[in-house]
Amino acid sequence: MAAHVQPHPSALQRVVLVANQKGGVGKTSIVTALGGLIARPERRVLLIDADPQGNATTSDLGVEGDRGRSLTMALQYGEPLQVLRDVRPGLDLVAGGPLLAQVGALTATAAQTGLDIVGNLRQTLAQVCAEGNYTVVLIDSGPGDAPLLDALLRTTRYLVVPTRDDDASLSGVELLALRYLKARHEGAPVQLLGVVLFDANPRATTRNGQVLADLDIVLDGSGATCFQTMIRSDRAAALDLRAAHLTPAELVEAAASQSRSRLAQLRRGGKHRADKDSGEEEEVRLWSRDPSALASDYQSLARELLGRIATIERGPSA
Ligand SMILES: Nc1ncnc2c1ncn2[C@@H]1O[C@H](COP(=O)(O)OP(=O)(O)O)[C@@H](O)[C@H]1O
Ligand SMILES: [Mg+2]
Repeated sequence: MAAHVQPHPSALQRVVLVANQKGGVGKTSIVTALGGLIARPERRVLLIDADPQGNATTSDLGVEGDRGRSLTMALQYGEPLQVLRDVRPGLDLVAGGPLLAQVGALTATAAQTGLDIVGNLRQTLAQVCAEGNYTVVLIDSGPGDAPLLDALLRTTRYLVVPTRDDDASLSGVELLALRYLKARHEGAPVQLLGVVLFDANPRATTRNGQVLADLDIVLDGSGATCFQTMIRSDRAAALDLRAAHLTPAELVEAAASQSRSRLAQLRRGGKHRADKDSGEEEEVRLWSRDPSALASDYQSLARELLGRIATIERGPSA
C-alpha cells in the first residue's frame, strides 16, 4: 500500500469529524440530523459512519449497509470506498458497523505489516470526495477506538465536539482536546470548529453559562469557541428519531401528519389503530407531538457550522 499518490489536499477541504471520547453525547444524532438538513439534490452531503456500533447507518437512517465492511477494507487495504447513493435526497453514506472493530487490532501490528490506515483513509476518502463534489462530508465516530479516532483526526479538516453538561462528558472533551492538539502538533491540518452542548435545557441559562465558561477554559489555546446553538433535550423526539429511522426534518413532517390523522380519526369517532398486524401500511406510533423546536436547533447548528467553515475559507482578511 506504500505507493500511494498523495491526494490533492483540496479534496478533503470540507471534511468534518464529529467526535468525543465519551459515548452518548450526541455525535450520531448530530451527524445524521445535519446530514439530513444540509443535503439536497443540488447540495450533496456524504456521511461516513466510522462507528462499529453503526447507529447512524442502521438506527438513524434505517439503512442495512454492509456492517462496515467497505470502510474496513478501505482502511486496511486502500480498497475504494463503497458509497450508498441517496439514502435521502442528496445524502450519500459509507456504512458503519461491527467489522470496524477490527481496525484497532490491525494497527497494533502496523509496524510489521506496513499497514498505513491514515494513508489509506486519506487516499480513499479523497477519491470519493473528488467524485461526489460534496458540499460537506460528515464523519461520525465511535466512543473508544483510539487508533481509528487518531486516523480520523489526521484525515479530517474540521472537528466538532458535542458534549452533555455532566462531568464525564466534559472530561471526554478534555481527552479529545489532547488528542486533537497532538494531531496538530504532528502537522495534521485539523481545526476545531467548536463544541456543541447537547441534550441541554435552553432555559437553564445560569447552568449553561457556567458550562460554556468551563468549556472555554478547556478550549483555551485551540482558537475555537462553543457554538451558540445548543441542541435541546427532547426525549420523546429522540426515541422517535431512532425507532422510526427519521431525520429531524422528516420527524416534523411525520408528527404533523400523525396529528392530522388523529384529528381526522377523532372527528370520525374512530379509534387509534392499536393492532400491529393490519399490514405494512401501519404507521409507527410517534411519541413526540411537536419536534419542531429540536429540528430548528439542528437547523441553526447547520447554519452556524457552514458559516464557520465559510469564514475560515474566506481567510483572515475577510
Ligand atoms: N435531543 C435529545 N434529547 C435527549 N436525548 C437525546 C436527544 N437526541 C438524542 N438523544 C439520545 O441520546 C442518546 C445518545 O445519542 P447519540 O447521538 O447516539 O450519542 P453518541 O453518538 O455520542 O453515542 C441516544 O439514546 C439518543 O436517543
Ligand atoms: Mg454514536
